[in-house]
Amino acid sequence: MNTQVIEVEDLQTAYGSSQVLFGISFSIRAGEMHTLLGRNGMGKTTTVRSIFGLTPCRAGSVRYLGHRIEKLSPDRIGRLGIALVPEGRQIFPNLSVRENLVAFARPGPRTGPAVAADKRWTLERIYALFPRLREREKNMGNQLSGGEQQMLAIGRALMTNPHLLILDEATEGLAPLIREEIWSCLQQLRAAGQTVLVIDKYVERLIRIADRHTIVERGRVAWQGPSAALSADPQLWQRYVGV
Ligand SMILES: Nc1ncnc2c1ncn2[C@@H]1O[C@H](COP(=O)(O)OP(=O)(O)OP(=O)(O)O)[C@@H](O)[C@H]1O
Ligand SMILES: [Mg+2]
Repeated sequence: MNTQVIEVEDLQTAYGSSQVLFGISFSIRAGEMHTLLGRNGMGKTTTVRSIFGLTPCRAGSVRYLGHRIEKLSPDRIGRLGIALVPEGRQIFPNLSVRENLVAFARPGPRTGPAVAADKRWTLERIYALFPRLREREKNMGNQLSGGEQQMLAIGRALMTNPHLLILDEATEGLAPLIREEIWSCLQQLRAAGQTVLVIDKYVERLIRIADRHTIVERGRVAWQGPSAALSADPQLWQRYVGV
């Protein structure tokens, strides 16, 4: 599979007069798991906000399945098949787990490659991925632990059958055992061929799960490459990611 799902080129983004991204470029092929790494405040969230149209870029381009999307609204981008799980999750507190999931169910975007019926995310497949969600099916969103909320947020995003799933701070603030569950989910997503862009700070874990990595340093790409190269150079990630 050589299809490029997303190609970000020379992305430059500012908040008012304060420029934050100075030319971010990376691309993700179908079925690949790609990470954005870097210390706090380096521009990771801004990068995914720009991809999703939440903070428009000032220059550069974002190509999704070959088409430019950097001028489109978040709603439109969502319907094209990109799903973002933002920092802070934002699930519906007054809907049950099941309702949260069903409210988002979609057969997949009408653009791009059709999602094969046996590859579609359904309630059953989400429950198989996160058995905890099945146990909590009738609980309201606001009765869930932080970890369960994150599982629900991921499950809900998958229910839209996106071509690209973006997770900002996949395991931020979660207990160690719950983090393991989220990483195990990422592993299963990768095995299932889901294209994913993930932000998380646990480089050692991500090296074992993801395919390629982009290290962001003050709004620029400091390094980019596959897991094997990153794994072979701990000094590199200690310098830019800090552990
Ligand atoms: N809404 C905003 N208005 C102004 N500046 C902002 C805004 N959001 C972020 N910034 C600034 O942009 C820079 C990049 O922030 P961003 O949130 O993209 O970093 P990050 O890499 O995601 O960091 P973290 O690891 O803390 O989530 C920071 O200097 C931050 O203070
Ligand atoms: Mg962030």
